[in-house]
Amino acid sequence: MDYYHQLKKSQLNFQVIIPFLKFNQELEKELLVKKIKIFLKTEKLFIISPTDETIIWAQDHWRDCHSALPSKELQQTLKDLNIFAYHYKTEKNKAVESLLGRLKHIPEKRIKFPVTKKFNFKYYTWTTYEDVVIYSLSPLKTYPVGWHEFDEDKDFPPNRAYLKLWEVFTTQDLKIKPDDCVIEIGAAPGGWSWVLSQYFKKVYTFDRADLAPQVKKIKNIEHHIGDAFKINPDEFTDCTWFFSDLICTPEKIHETIEFWLAHSRVKNFVCTIKFKGDTPFEVIDKLLKIPDSKIVRLYHNKNEVTWISSPKVT
Ligand SMILES: C[S@@+](CC[C@H](N)C(=O)[O-])C[C@H]1O[C@@H](n2cnc3c(N)ncnc32)[C@H](O)[C@@H]1O
Repeated sequence: MDYYHQLKKSQLNFQVIIPFLKFNQELEKELLVKKIKIFLKTEKLFIISPTDETIIWAQDHWRDCHSALPSKELQQTLKDLNIFAYHYKTEKNKAVESLLGRLKHIPEKRIKFPVTKKFNFKYYTWTTYEDVVIYSLSPLKTYPVGWHEFDEDKDFPPNRAYLKLWEVFTTQDLKIKPDDCVIEIGAAPGGWSWVLSQYFKKVYTFDRADLAPQVKKIKNIEHHIGDAFKINPDEFTDCTWFFSDLICTPEKIHETIEFWLAHSRVKNFVCTIKFKGDTPFEVIDKLLKIPDSKIVRLYHNKNEVTWISSPKVT
């Protein structure tokens, strides 16, 4: 029996991955490298063999998945869960129409930053593959399908890079103390610097270029023009945090992180790892060997991931 028929008859043991828009190929390559079987795939979802691995290129990863043809019994089963439903839209079909009106749905809302109250609804997710309904009682992301669209600030920030940091501060529990100071490399034109200035006592920014005038005026930002790979950590002994969105190879940023770990008081990092083409899994493995660290592919990342390391990161 093929996978579609097994799915139809609820006989398939499977999980669902939601790919990031336009990054399906990266996801497919990652699953291949990690030897995870793809049963079925479309532009909007991958149905895979169960795995405990962290999938970098998954916008969401649904475990505890079930499949069934639409029916009155299925409707009742879902209603009886008595928690919110999140419908991940694939294509319009009859199964969707018969279920939609009867379930208690989470409204889709843009996130207002800073988030003062954590999003803590208990919910399940559901979608359809052809005429089969798939639902998961254990989606990975706190925000349904990792949809991190913010109510954007279109006036102050000089670019949209700040959205990456808004996402980090919204989804990661970074423990920044009021007296903490930070080094930020590859800072221009200053979207990140603007965000960091709201969290840190002092922000030392480095770039070959200048910051946008409105960012440069912020009192607790001190900008240095020059090569970020030539900073002497001994001149910044008040810094315990290090942020980088600098454009360089994954190998170079890895070397830079190791240098700062060995020669400074910095213990906490948030660094974009930028790729040229394929995901460099060897460098990622080396970064993940650094204690208390993880790799997150943010909703706002492009062909890049974010490496976060902090003794208190959750
Ligand atoms: C993607 S931009 C950073 C955008 C920034 N995060 C923001 O929010 O505005 C990358 C920056 O890295 C800087 N850069 C690249 N190589 C550098 C180097 N060796 N030293 C200093 N800056 C460098 C570039 O000048 C560029 O401004």
